Amino acid sequence: MNQNSGVQVSGAQTPRIRTAPPGSLAGLTCGLPDPVGVDEPSPRLSWDARLPEAATVTVSAGGHEVWRASVPAGSHVVDVPGERLDPLMPYTWSVGGYATGAFTTGLRGGWKAPWLAGDPRAAVSLRGSFTWRPGRVWLAATALGVYRALLNGVRLGEEELAPGWTDYGHRTRYRLLELTGLLTPGENELKLWLAPGWYAGHVAGGGPRRYGDRPAASAQVLVRDDDGVRRVFATDAAWTRRDLGRPRADLVMGETVHAPSQPAGAASEVPAQEVPAQEVPAQEIVVPEIVVEADPAPPVRVIGTVPAVSVTEPVPGVQVADFGRNVVGRVRLRVDAPGPVRIVVRHGEELTATGRLYTDNLRTADQRDEFLLGPGSHVVEPAFTLHGFRYAEVTGWPGALTPDDLEAVLLSSALAVTGSLTVSDPAVRQLVANIGASADGNLVSVPTDCPQRDERAGWTADISVFGSTLSFLRHTQAFLSGWVTTLIDGQRADGAVPHVAPVLPEYGYDSPVWSDALVEVPWLLWRRYGDDRTLRRAYDPMRRWADYCLAQAEGGIRPGRALGDWLAPGTVETPKSLIATAALARSLRLVAHVADVLGEPHAPEYGEAFTHVSGAFQRAFLSGPKLHTETQTGYAVALAWDLVPPEDRIASAQALADLVRAGGHRLMTGFVGTPLLLPVLSETGHHDLACRIFNQEGYPSWRYQLRAGATTMWERWDAWHHRHGLQTPAMNSFNHYAYGCVGDWLFRHVAGLGDDPRGTGGGFGELLLRPGPVPLLREAHARYDSASGTVESGWRAGPGGVQFTFAVPEGVSARAVLPVRGAWDGMTVNGTFLMGLSEQLPATRLADGGCALNLPPGRWSFTAPAAATAHLLQEWDDLGRR
Ligand code: BGC
Repeated sequence: MNQNSGVQVSGAQTPRIRTAPPGSLAGLTCGLPDPVGVDEPSPRLSWDARLPEAATVTVSAGGHEVWRASVPAGSHVVDVPGERLDPLMPYTWSVGGYATGAFTTGLRGGWKAPWLAGDPRAAVSLRGSFTWRPGRVWLAATALGVYRALLNGVRLGEEELAPGWTDYGHRTRYRLLELTGLLTPGENELKLWLAPGWYAGHVAGGGPRRYGDRPAASAQVLVRDDDGVRRVFATDAAWTRRDLGRPRADLVMGETVHAPSQPAGAASEVPAQEVPAQEVPAQEIVVPEIVVEADPAPPVRVIGTVPAVSVTEPVPGVQVADFGRNVVGRVRLRVDAPGPVRIVVRHGEELTATGRLYTDNLRTADQRDEFLLGPGSHVVEPAFTLHGFRYAEVTGWPGALTPDDLEAVLLSSALAVTGSLTVSDPAVRQLVANIGASADGNLVSVPTDCPQRDERAGWTADISVFGSTLSFLRHTQAFLSGWVTTLIDGQRADGAVPHVAPVLPEYGYDSPVWSDALVEVPWLLWRRYGDDRTLRRAYDPMRRWADYCLAQAEGGIRPGRALGDWLAPGTVETPKSLIATAALARSLRLVAHVADVLGEPHAPEYGEAFTHVSGAFQRAFLSGPKLHTETQTGYAVALAWDLVPPEDRIASAQALADLVRAGGHRLMTGFVGTPLLLPVLSETGHHDLACRIFNQEGYPSWRYQLRAGATTMWERWDAWHHRHGLQTPAMNSFNHYAYGCVGDWLFRHVAGLGDDPRGTGGGFGELLLRPGPVPLLREAHARYDSASGTVESGWRAGPGGVQFTFAVPEGVSARAVLPVRGAWDGMTVNGTFLMGLSEQLPATRLADGGCALNLPPGRWSFTAPAAATAHLLQEWDDLGRR
C-alpha cells in the first residue's frame, strides 16, 4: 500500500479511485475480455489497475483449479504457463478470489481442415451437414477471402468481413464460434458464405486477385467431451456449392444483391436469405502452407446505424440521401417494390456544386451497390463490401425516396472506449467527435489511411502519428499488436520495412517515420499497456531495421527518402535528409530503451549509434541553435527527439517560436511535424503559441475544417478551400485520422493527462499531470481508463480563478505541474490551504514560477485564486481575440 496515500487533509475528502480489496478490479482481459480462441503459448491475464497488495491468481477449468500463482503488489498482468492448458478448454480465472474473467483456449496446433474454393468475383454459399454430438461443440472457421458462417440457416456470431486482412502469404486467422446449445438433434447444416474480400477482390488500387485467383474457406467442427477434443466434421469434397445471388461482391467496388419476390407483409431480410440456385459439388483446393492462428484482435462488427437526414433530387430520377456525417459501412434499404426493381446506390463523401454525388476523390473505387429485387417488401443490405460516404445517390427507386427508407450501417473493429475529453467549446467537442469517428471508420481489421478511395491500406505513418491519441480514446493493445505481426510479416529479408501493412510492395519500403512504425508502435504498446511481448516479438525485426538504416547512412546522415513531411502546406520544404536522420536517431534511441526493458545486451550499442547520428544531425543541419533551413517541422523533430544540444534547447525553441509568430500563428506542418509541433511548443515554454495555432480559424488549421462542417478528419489541410473548393481529387480523403494526432496534445497539454514523456516504464505507471488552459476553452477534462487504473485531469476557469482536478489511481506515481504564478501558496487543496500542507504535500516552485508536487493516489481538487492565475486570464483576453 502506498504510504503517502494516507495524507490527512483536515476537512478535506480524498476519495480513492482504486482501493483494496481487488474485488473492485475491472477490465479483466486475456488479450480481450473473455476471449474464445486463445492461441498465445502463455496467455496473458491482465486487469486495469495496479494491485494494492499481493494477491493470488487462479485459473480453473470445470470447477477444478489448474494453476495458481502469487502476484506482487503493483502488478497488473500475469502470464499463465502454456503447458498447463489444454486446447479448446473454457477456463475461468480470478484475482484475489474476487474479480473473475474467462478465456477459452484455441486449437493450439496446426490447422487441419481442407479448403474449398469460392468464386473470384461473386459470393458463394458452401454447404455441408453433420450429425449432432454430445459435449461442447465449436466451429473453427477461416478463409482466404471473407466469410460468414450459418448454422441451420441462422447466422453465427456478429463478425463482419471475417477473418479480416492479413499478409495472406504468411498467415490468416480463424475464429471459434461455440455451437453447443445451438445444434438440433440429428442433422445440422453448416454454411459458409464466401466472397473475394481482400484476398481476391480489389485492394489498394492494384486491381483484383492480388493474393490469389480464387478465394477459399476452411472450417472444422470440434467437440470436447470426457474423452478430450475430437474433430468431428470439416470442409471437404462432400460439401456443395452454389451462387448466393451476389454476382458482384467486392470490398471496394461494391456488391450486387438479388432478392426474389416476397409475399406481402413478409419482408425479406437479406442477408439472412439466399436466392434459389443450382447446387454443385464443392471443389477442394490446396492452398500454400501458411499460419492459421486464432485472431487475437476484436472482430469487425456493426457498431451502429445512422439515419438519413434528408433527401434531394438534383435531377429527375436521381435522389441523394444525406446521412449528416461521414461514415464507414454500407446502406440498408427498406423497399416496397411494386414489381421487379433495379436500384443502384452509389456512395460518396461530398456533393458537387449542383448537388450531384462527387466521386472524383474515389479514384477507381466504384462504391456502387445494386439491388435486383422481386415484387414485395424488402430489407436489403450488402454483406461483403465497405464504403466511405456521407451521401448515397439512389437511382431506380420506386417512387419518392424518404429518409426513412434507408440508414447507414457502420462497421468497425470496435475497439473498447477507454478515454474521453470534455471541453466547453462546441467546436473542440466536434473535433474530438471527428477524431473518434475517423478512428472507428479506419479501424476495420487493420488501421487504414482512408475508407473511401481505392487505397484503404495499412499506412504505417498514419497509425504511428495517430497511435498515441488513438490509444487514449480506444483500447488498442490487441488490435495493434496483431497488426505489428502483419508489419513484421512484410519486412524484407534485408531489414527494409514496408510503408503499408499488410505489405503491398508497390507502395514502397523504407521511408523515415513510415517504416519507423515498426519501432514506434510496439513502443507505444509497451508504454500504454506494459506489453513487453509485442516488444519481444518486434525486437529482432526492429534491430534489423535500425541496422539497415545505419548501413545506408553516410557519416550518420541518412539520405532523404520519398515521403518527407507529407502534405505539409507552404513553400519551404523541410529537407528530407533532416527528417530521415532525425527519425533514425529517434528509432535508435527507442531500440536502446527496448533493449533495456527486455534485458538484452544491445542498449549501449544503440545508445552509441544515437549519439553518433544526433552529432551528425547537429553538424549537418544546425548552426548553433538555428536550423539552416528553418521550418516548423525541422524544429519540432529536432526538439521532440532530443537532437539539439541541451545548451541550445531554449534558444532553438525560441527560434521555433519566432518562426511561428512570423508565420501568423499558422501551422506549416505535414504528417511528420503535426504530431510534434504543439507538444514541443507547450513543453518548451510556448504553450501560448501552441494555443494560438490551435485556435487559428483560417487556413490551415483544425478549426478551419470544423468551420467548413467537417464530421471526420481531413487528409489534407486544404481538402476543401474557401477560394478553390475541393482540392486534388487524386489525394483528397475526408476521413483520414492522421491529423487527429492533435488529440494527444489535448489530453496531455490541455487537460493535462499523460504519462511522463521522459520515462521508459511500461503500463502508464508514471503520470505527468500538467494542465494547460487554452484561451477560448473555459474548461477541459480528460479521463482515461489506463492499464494502471482510471486517471483524470482537468481544469475549469471562473472569475475567481482556476480549479484543477485530478484523480490518481493506486500504485501509480504522479507528478502534477500547475501553471500558476506568484503567490500560489494561497491555493486550496480539497478545501485546505496548500501552505498548511507543506509536510504532507510538499510543493516546489519551478523556474517559471509554476507549482510542482507529487500527488498520492486519490482525487484532488486545487483551487488557484485569481492572483495566481491572472496571467492565464490575461492570456485569454489577449489570445481569445482572433
Ligand atoms: C495515404 C497516406 C500515406 C501517404 C504516404 C497516401 O496515399 O493516404 O495517408 O501516409 O500516401 O505516401
